[in-house]
This record gives sequence, structure tokens and C-alpha cells, in this order.
Amino acid sequence: MLRVNRTVVLLLLIACSSVFLLFQLYYYRKYVNKPGPHILSQTGHLTTTDVQWLTVKKFLALAQRYRLPLFLADTAALKLLSQDALRQRDRLVREPHCSFLCTGRPITSFALHANLWKYDPGFLLAAEQKGFQLLTLTGKDPRLASLDTLSGEEIPLHFLLRLHDYIIQVVFLYERSGNYMWFGALRLRADTDRSFAPFRQLDYGRHAGALDRQELVLTVLDGLDVRVPQNVSRFLYELRHARFLECRYHDARNFLQLYPEDSSPQSLDFRRKVKTLLHRVAQILTKLDIPFWLSSGTCLGWFRQCSVISYSRDVDIGIFIVDFRSDIIAAFRDAGLSLKHKFGKVEDSLELSFLSEDVKLDIFFFYEDGDIVWNGGTQAKSGRKFKYVFPRFSLCWAELLELKVRVPCETLDYVTANYGATWNIPVRSWDWKSSPSNVRENGVWPPSEWAELIQVY
Ligand SMILES: *[C@@H]1O[C@H](CO)[C@@H](O)[C@H](O)[C@H]1NC(C)=O
Repeated sequence: MLRVNRTVVLLLLIACSSVFLLFQLYYYRKYVNKPGPHILSQTGHLTTTDVQWLTVKKFLALAQRYRLPLFLADTAALKLLSQDALRQRDRLVREPHCSFLCTGRPITSFALHANLWKYDPGFLLAAEQKGFQLLTLTGKDPRLASLDTLSGEEIPLHFLLRLHDYIIQVVFLYERSGNYMWFGALRLRADTDRSFAPFRQLDYGRHAGALDRQELVLTVLDGLDVRVPQNVSRFLYELRHARFLECRYHDARNFLQLYPEDSSPQSLDFRRKVKTLLHRVAQILTKLDIPFWLSSGTCLGWFRQCSVISYSRDVDIGIFIVDFRSDIIAAFRDAGLSLKHKFGKVEDSLELSFLSEDVKLDIFFFYEDGDIVWNGGTQAKSGRKFKYVFPRFSLCWAELLELKVRVPCETLDYVTANYGATWNIPVRSWDWKSSPSNVRENGVWPPSEWAELIQVY
């Protein structure tokens, strides 16, 4: 009795599972296994991930045909690439066919080396034929702007290609004379269709930017061949600090019409020396990974006249005290700059001066304190201390003497703090203890510490 029951149950089970298996096969053939790309879902609708992948694929095929020297510059995609292996595996499981390029954002951005591409309108035509809608954003060529000419030619700065409400941004990188790559801000014209793209979400274009030349590697991401920066985290770091300020050529020219540039041989010689010195300083501090910016008169020179104030006789730079390293003096000495004086200490009012040929380099260390930033000054013969107070600022790139160099982004506030509202009028007699608008008396160093805190060589 028991034996018969078991056999019957077994047969019934086999019958049931066979029916279920047949049903599965039927269902699969009828609903799932439609012709077309396998990533299509059963209803034939594309998911957002599919759209992103297909759009990028289509774009990359076109870019390859027209030999666009591109690399992936999308912050979200590159972040996925740079994250640790564990996070990547997680994503691979969730989005097996598109784990890097499908970022969940309706944009993918690429950078284009404009100097390596002969502008080919055929590319845009072909893109249109493939169904892309196009928006080309142009701007004045800053490489042509100078004190002599202000009329830059219009050059392409960004391509936006739209397909299925999905945007590919192509950012043009131009090589500038300071040996860096520059990209322009994205400025919409009055007649631009503001619904063309989610402009606020774009990675590039809020400001102009400067980047070092990137080493690239060719790789396969989600089945597509694409170039990426070799050191992705380095690239992302640079991008976060890329904002670039163009010199105010127009205002500088007006200034120089009122106060013409001194073109005496001494003055030209001084500019040449400053250029050499600044390039050397940038080399030393970049190697030490210490950010610095143009300060005091050197900053004023860049801001007011896009050059060096020839009667200033020295070069001033600022460094945040948190970036101080004890090997800085040795690094300058090794590069042939001799220490001239050292005032103060790391905890208070540190200031270093070096000599290169007959040009003095002043390095002021800046201390952050609430909503102000200050640097100190010391009078060697009296031990008197001074304090120069600035509103807080962030750092931007700029170009001076064919060097990519930082300046405070809020340059006007910085210069006004230091030189007052009349910074636009040259002052030849300048007393560092009383002339600056932002100088404050700050006591006297205790005489017992002078030997330590006031070192003159
Ligand atoms: C990438 O750049 C960072 C600095 O941003 C550096 O610390 C790191 O060593 C670099 N990685 C490689 C593999 O070169």
C-alpha cells in the first residue's frame, strides 16, 4: 500500500515538473526571446541603462570613424572606475552589461584634445544622420587674447549631442602657452534652447578650467573601447581644483594706457628674472606637492596689468601653513636659491625669503582663523610683529609669464584688502609696515626668542 503511494507521488511530481518546464520553454520563446539586441526588455522598451549604453556606443563608433582624440572625462563614470574592487563587484552583479558607463545620470562627458583634431564638420553631419541632436557652444579663443589684441576668434568649446533625452558632452581641451590644457566656460546665448540639456548637471562648463596634460590608456569598459586617464584619482583631484581665471586684458590695457609699461632694459631684465624664478619655484613646490599662490605685489601685477610690476623688485607668494614641510628650505637651497631670512615659527607668523640672482622671493605662510586668513610680518631690528588680514578665499588657476599658477579666486577682494580701493593707482613708495590697508600691529617677539625667530643671512 505504502509502496504504491510512493510511486504514484513520484510519477505525479515528474509529470508536474515536465509541464512546468514546457511552460517555461514556451514562455521564453514567446515573450523573452525576441529578435534584436539582447539588452532589450520583453516589452521592447529600453531601460535607462540601455539608453545610456546604446547612446555611448553609437557616439563612440562615430568618434572612432572621425578619429576624435577623445578620452572619458565623466566624473561619475571615472569615480566608479577608481572605487575599490569590492564596490565594483557589487555593481557588476547589479548591472552586468553596463557597470561603469551607466551612471544613473543622463549625461556622459568626454574630453577632446582640440590640438590633435582637425575640425571636421563631417562628424557633426554624421551624428545628425544617426539621430543625434546637436548643440555647439563656442567662445573667444583665449590663446589669441593679449594686451595687444582683444579680438579672439570664435572657437568650439563644447559639443552637446542628444539622443533619447540623453546627453553626450564633448569638452574641447586646448593647449595653452603655459604647457597646460584649458577648457572654456559654457555660456548659453540668448537664443539657446534651455531645455536642450540639464545644463546645471553638466560636469564641465560652469567655469573655465586648467588641467595638466593627461597620460591616457586605452581600455574596454562595458564592452566598449575607450581611453581613460591613466591615473583616474589624480585626474578627478585636478578637476575639482581646475577653475581657471583669464587675465582681465581689457582692464589691463586701459590701465597701461594711463600708466605705460616701463620698457627700460633694467625693467625687461627684471621681468626675465622673475619669469625664471617663478618657473623654478613652481617646479620645486609642485615636486613637494605644496600648493602656492601669487600674493601681494605679484598678485596685484597679474590682476591689474597681466604682468609684473617692474618697480616692485621682488616676488611674493603665499602658502597655507597646513602645507608647510620642514624640507622646504633644503629644496630651495638645492635648486640654487639661498635663504635670506627666516622670521617667526610654524605656530606663528612664519615668513621665508630667498635670493635668486638679485631678485628676492618672499614666501608668506597663511593662517586660517574663523572667517579670516592672515599672514605675519616681522621687523628684524625691533622685533615688532605685524599681521595682514584677508577675507577667506579659494584658489584658482591663472597664467602669468607662460606659467600656470594659482591666484585667489576672489582676486578683487584679496587685492582690495591688501591695497585698498585705490589699488588701481600705482604707488611707488610703499612701506610694508604701514601702507597696506590690512596691516595691524601684533605686539613684539620676546627678546629671549629673537635669535630663534629672527634669522637674517
Ligand atoms: C595617482 O596620483 C596620486 C596623486 O594624485 C598618487 O598619489 C598616486 O601614487 C598615483 N598613482 C599611480 C598609480 O601613479
